[in-house]
Amino acid sequence: MTEPLRVGVAGLGTVGAALIAQIAEQRGALAARCGRAIEVVAVSARSRNKNRGIDLKKMKWFSDPVELAGFEGIDVFVELMGGSGDPAKSAVEYALASGKSVVTANKALLAKHGFKLAQLAEKADVSLNYEAAVAAAIPVVKTLREGLAGNAINRIYGILNGTCNYILTRMEQEGLSYADCLADAQRLGYAEADPTFDVEGHDTAQKLALLASLAFGTKVDEGAIYVEGISSIAPADLAAADELGYRIKLLGVAVRTPKGIEQRVHPTMVRKDSSIAQVMGVTNAVTIDAEGINPITLVGPGAGGAATASAVLSDIADIARGARTAPFGRPAGKLTVVKKAPMQRHEGGYYIRLEARDKPGTAATIAKRLAQQDISLESIVQRHPKGEVAPKSKSGSVPVILITYATSEDAVRKALAAVGSDRVISGRPQVIRIEKN
Ligand code: HSE
Repeated sequence: MTEPLRVGVAGLGTVGAALIAQIAEQRGALAARCGRAIEVVAVSARSRNKNRGIDLKKMKWFSDPVELAGFEGIDVFVELMGGSGDPAKSAVEYALASGKSVVTANKALLAKHGFKLAQLAEKADVSLNYEAAVAAAIPVVKTLREGLAGNAINRIYGILNGTCNYILTRMEQEGLSYADCLADAQRLGYAEADPTFDVEGHDTAQKLALLASLAFGTKVDEGAIYVEGISSIAPADLAAADELGYRIKLLGVAVRTPKGIEQRVHPTMVRKDSSIAQVMGVTNAVTIDAEGINPITLVGPGAGGAATASAVLSDIADIARGARTAPFGRPAGKLTVVKKAPMQRHEGGYYIRLEARDKPGTAATIAKRLAQQDISLESIVQRHPKGEVAPKSKSGSVPVILITYATSEDAVRKALAAVGSDRVISGRPQVIRIEKN
């Protein structure tokens, strides 16, 4: 029988504790599948005495995770501390430099330093696995890296943040405000006390950066991503989307275009009958458009102790089996620099909601400004308060909802700036991109 794979775990929060419990529960099955046992022999965490409901007695304790990373009694260093800086960064670098394979759930670290860490792993001839860093239990890293190794990828997009999808689902289904749904998400423990990172799209962007690199063979580059969050979405947008046959989802999208690779995170209108539109609540989903085959959609739990531990353990199992793939699906030297497609040149349909002055000539002014930018309208709806059929024109404002045919971001921005200067609208226009799916 081959020697057990010796694992050191740094970080014993909900994920670390769930991982240790799952390794104990699945001991026999893991040994059968991998041909060798997997044993956690050493751990590190901030507090030694906290009750985590797991037995740590047989494990060597390290108060310094970097020291654990270099401990000669382990084969694999599992980093579950999080954060793009130290101690996670130093510990992972030290483990790789000491010839140990690394498994991490740390999207922030990889989005920022992924390329350098991949080079280090390659130099040391060890694995750097991170399935848990994107959409937790959904095996999307392996799908791109292994399952679709022979396919050209044209587009990958997904619901990669459960907090945002929970908020948008409740707003849509119950007509609640963004603020009320966010407060509930915080109460239920989905959103952080400071929810900015989730709701402003940064969490999605870090995950998208990793997916884009895997899909297109580019050096991971979080800075190349256009990011917009969900905090401006109003119940009126969800109601209008519903009537028009759409749902609004915060999507991370990476797509190959003639202008380069477009990487963007923003609220998106998706057709109600699409696979991605069916995904509700905290659930995550990723759709991959690969050349020559119908789209593949993977759906599942994207956060939480057990879901994240499941992905971490599958990465450890690969190492136990001796299965190794380059961290970003190809040798680091073959990763290209991403040619960023500027957002102004994004092309697609647009949903636009304006608070328009309820006076003769307003619609004509808006139409003229759109026409000047060569924007063609698929529909235009002016809404009056419920029950008012063809009311007398008043001096107030009225919501006008426009759906455009495919146009460019630049044209939309210029047309709306001109409409603003015409003083026929109040407040900021709401603009939501429509994704074909
Ligand atoms: N905070 C994330 C979410 C999970 O709400 O999906 C961790 O990335």
